[in-house]
Amino acid sequence: MSECRICDNQNLELILDYGDMPLVNSLNNGEDSKTYPLKLVRCPECGLVQITETVPPEELFSEYLYFSSQSDTMLAHSKKLVGELIESRKLNEHSFVIELASNDGYLLRYYVEKGIPVLGIEPAVNVAKVANERGIPTLAQFFGLEEAQRLQAESIKADVVHAHNVLAHVADLHGFVEGIKLILKPDGVAVVEVPYLKDLVENCEFDTVYHEHLCYFSLPPLIRLFADHGLMVSDVKMQKIHGGTLRLYVTHDLDYKDFTKRIETVKEQLKTTLAGLKSQGKKIAAYGAAAKGCVLLNTCGIDSRTIDYVVDSTPAKWEKYMPGTGIRVYPPGKLLENKPDYVLILAWNFAEEIMAKSKDYKGKFIIPIPKLRICG
Ligand code: TYD
Repeated sequence: MSECRICDNQNLELILDYGDMPLVNSLNNGEDSKTYPLKLVRCPECGLVQITETVPPEELFSEYLYFSSQSDTMLAHSKKLVGELIESRKLNEHSFVIELASNDGYLLRYYVEKGIPVLGIEPAVNVAKVANERGIPTLAQFFGLEEAQRLQAESIKADVVHAHNVLAHVADLHGFVEGIKLILKPDGVAVVEVPYLKDLVENCEFDTVYHEHLCYFSLPPLIRLFADHGLMVSDVKMQKIHGGTLRLYVTHDLDYKDFTKRIETVKEQLKTTLAGLKSQGKKIAAYGAAAKGCVLLNTCGIDSRTIDYVVDSTPAKWEKYMPGTGIRVYPPGKLLENKPDYVLILAWNFAEEIMAKSKDYKGKFIIPIPKLRICG
């Protein structure tokens, strides 16, 4: 392999040459072990640290001796994560969870306990068998684009896709990530954990470099990898497990068509509400001569014909006008003298504080964003 596994750059920089190394998980009966070159390199284009040799996965993973459930640390880590996801994403018996490289079901078991349907995909046949025997439905398969397309053909999509400590093992990163995209529901989340390169380097963990681990990740190449497939790293949490782990929460990229649709709704609701109040002869003022308020008023075409004035606690803004609107700024005290029927809170980021401060004003508040609401 002479090209970067993410960006295809051919000029990879050598970090360390380990010489020839046997397959370190192939424990044997004392016979000579076959060896393969082991070279650690870095791609100066995208920052991905990787090894150059790709040993065929069938040779690496057919008889696998690693059973995740043997570690109490792994179990506790998984149980906590599953609990958090069930709660934050309100998962129930109608949800669906898929884990890629699900091992012996060490994580999916915590969903099964709560009656949430799961599917494990685990290439090591002997390990997948153990999972199935424990009641964790598991396909003895490698996951990649093909397997994802097969699931897609059966309309199998997940609310949560787990991929823990598997990405570093994957030769076809782009196929794997495209596969995640195909099996992730539109509002689903993929939780991806990888050992963190920073800890590897800082703690001198050079012994975690071996043929099973093709890549050593930091955040920038991962963001790029997911972005190449219309996926977004929407949150990152550092974990202590395995000497330092990056946990990514990956979702489909933001839907800008839907964003512009929702903006239209917000604008229409505000304009209709204000026009309705105005036609009933109500007096309307605004609170907060904020920059965002100026954008809101200008994009909605709302000016001094609808809003009598705006109040703001910033003396430097008093007696000035909000650009493009002809709306003049006064100190907050004006609300008590003038007693408007409605106050449009333009500084909606401080809505609660503003309403609490304005207890003596007895009229109603309109808060335009994120969704129009009327209070008081
Ligand atoms: P700000 O949050 O700085 O938003 P932007 O970046 O859009 O300008 O603006 C808040 C405005 O609201 C600022 O002019 C101060 C004013 N304000 C009050 O008048 N009273 C208050 O109690 C608070 C919290 C803010």
